[in-house]
Amino acid sequence: MNYYWSFILLIALIQLITFSDTASISDSNYIRIDLFKRELDKSISPEKLLKVRQTLLARKYSKLFKRDVVIPLTDEKNLKFRDLSYYGIITIGGQNFTVNFDTGSADLWVPDIQCNSSQCGTHNRFDPTKSPTFIPVSPPNNFTIPYGSSVSGYEGQDTVILGGISLTNQTFGLALIDGFNLTYEEDGILGCSLQPVVLTGSTFFQRVKTQKLLNNTVIGFHFGRYNLNSTDKSFMNLGGIDSNAYVGNIVYHNITDQVLFTGLWFILLSDAQIDGVSIGGIGSSALIDTGTPIIVGNNVQVSNIHKNIPGSYWNGALWWIPCNTTSVVSLVFNNISYKISPTELIIPAVSNGTLCQSTIQVAFDSIWIVGAAFLSNVYSVFDFDKMQVGFAESKLVSN
Ligand SMILES: *[C@@H]1O[C@H](CO)[C@@H](O)[C@H](O)[C@H]1NC(C)=O
Ligand SMILES: *[C@@H]1O[C@H](CO)[C@@H](O)[C@H](O)[C@H]1NC(C)=O
Ligand SMILES: *[C@@H]1O[C@H](CO)[C@@H](O)[C@H](O)[C@H]1NC(C)=O
Ligand SMILES: *[C@@H]1O[C@H](CO)[C@@H](O)[C@H](O)[C@H]1NC(C)=O
Ligand SMILES: *[C@@H]1O[C@H](CO)[C@@H](O)[C@H](O)[C@H]1NC(C)=O
Ligand SMILES: *[C@@H]1O[C@H](CO)[C@@H](O)[C@H](O)[C@H]1NC(C)=O
Ligand SMILES: *[C@@H]1O[C@H](CO)[C@@H](O)[C@H](O)[C@H]1NC(C)=O
Ligand SMILES: *[C@@H]1O[C@H](CO)[C@@H](O)[C@H](O)[C@H]1NC(C)=O
Ligand SMILES: *[C@@H]1O[C@H](CO)[C@@H](O)[C@H](O)[C@H]1NC(C)=O
Ligand SMILES: *[C@@H]1O[C@H](CO)[C@@H](O)[C@H](O)[C@H]1NC(C)=O
Ligand SMILES: *[C@@H]1O[C@H](CO)[C@@H](O)[C@H](O)[C@H]1NC(C)=O
Repeated sequence: MNYYWSFILLIALIQLITFSDTASISDSNYIRIDLFKRELDKSISPEKLLKVRQTLLARKYSKLFKRDVVIPLTDEKNLKFRDLSYYGIITIGGQNFTVNFDTGSADLWVPDIQCNSSQCGTHNRFDPTKSPTFIPVSPPNNFTIPYGSSVSGYEGQDTVILGGISLTNQTFGLALIDGFNLTYEEDGILGCSLQPVVLTGSTFFQRVKTQKLLNNTVIGFHFGRYNLNSTDKSFMNLGGIDSNAYVGNIVYHNITDQVLFTGLWFILLSDAQIDGVSIGGIGSSALIDTGTPIIVGNNVQVSNIHKNIPGSYWNGALWWIPCNTTSVVSLVFNNISYKISPTELIIPAVSNGTLCQSTIQVAFDSIWIVGAAFLSNVYSVFDFDKMQVGFAESKLVSN
């Protein structure tokens, strides 16, 4: 999602997490069994460990559905930043919601029952009175999340279930005003960072990690490329990786040292190539963001990419690419080059017949954000244990 980065700079404070899961047992006739924590076998690569222990818990419930929004092109001046995103189902206090699993943000929110239709459209709304496990946060707290469009409301806690993983008293936002209102199909957002940015409680995955609810606190994403093959499935894995979803090996990239952005998924974007030809290096930290549909980046570098794509066109606001382009743009992370399929380089629904809107655009603040237009070409792994992001070339998954 689009952030106001200056805001993040102010609030992305390092939070120390203290957690105690000691159960108090009042019976004194108990037997004490000392447990020893098994040391990790360091000779086994992280990739192998994950493969050996992979569990596909989430497969059943957190299948993602690709948004299917067709935006007719009426007037070039009215073109907006819009395209595709992916979402899945979570349950809060027994009520179901579709949420975008967003590695580019931290907080979980869904619309509140009081949010009216002009604000929240026909989205599912959380009704606290219908949940016996709902509790308001104490002291009461209102929140405002300034994505590109802001979302605001009040905080509560309830049991949140994702793919069979259940967290009691999870803090979440109940939105009274939803700046996205009718723009998105999904009801809300589940931020997949390790630190809360706006809400007062720990994030969903922070608590999954602290409570060791998964053998590996990792999530994997396979975003289907429907334009390439309409049978391609989209899904997220929890706790392990799906070796059927990619070819070759997953290579992991350490998150870059971003003191002010702690807990967000930044890795080093070293270069971009067009049909194998380098634009001469990028060397910036890029936010790997499952919640952003496209790729945005530095003005000069984004221009250099398009100047190497035959027929590309800058209309003063946006880059356009011939809809029938065969150019292959690759992003290079730590010396490994990952190809973007030409079908993912364009937004077919935003076109004047010959030119389609490019999925690589200029960021207003020069920050690189790498979204679904790239992530659909790889199987991506977000490893909360080692704070690294892994990619391997995506494979068609039809079942
Ligand atoms: C909520 O979603 C689960 C899993 O998809 C489904 O089994 C259940 O019937 C849904 N509940 C409601 C109230 O829709
Ligand atoms: C919807 O809610 C907004 C914000 O609370 C309010 O300003 C607006 O008047 C409400 N609209 C209707 C139709 O109730
Ligand atoms: C969506 O929300 C924005 C910002 O609150 C508002 O200006 C707009 O009118 C809303 N859209 C609809 C269809 O109500
Ligand atoms: C939260 O906002 C509501 C209005 O929407 C207001 O009545 C209430 O006092 C606010 N609570 C806090 C703790 O700021
Ligand atoms: C959830 O919070 C309520 C109220 O603070 C508390 O009574 C309950 O024990 C908590 N549940 C868990 C599982 O921590
Ligand atoms: C953790 O791994 C063990 C042994 O492979 C397995 O039995 C268990 O179901 C796994 N737990 C989770 C939450 O994945
Ligand atoms: C899509 O994939 C399916 C399953 O592998 C295959 O049968 C079909 O031919 C593919 N379609 C295209 C257009 O490539
Ligand atoms: C990644 O981080 C780990 C742990 O801090 C370190 O051992 C490793 O050398 C790093 N890898 C690279 C390529 O910097
Ligand atoms: C793309 O379409 C244009 C006409 O719109 C045609 O001139 C050009 O040769 C086509 N390019 C490819 C690679 O098919
Ligand atoms: C990157 O790849 C180039 C060419 O393959 C090689 O010369 C260079 O040493 C590599 N750099 C790193 C940091 O691995
Ligand atoms: C699409 O826009 C480009 C750039 O303005 C123009 O050259 C081209 O003729 C337009 N195509 C159609 C079919 O209108």
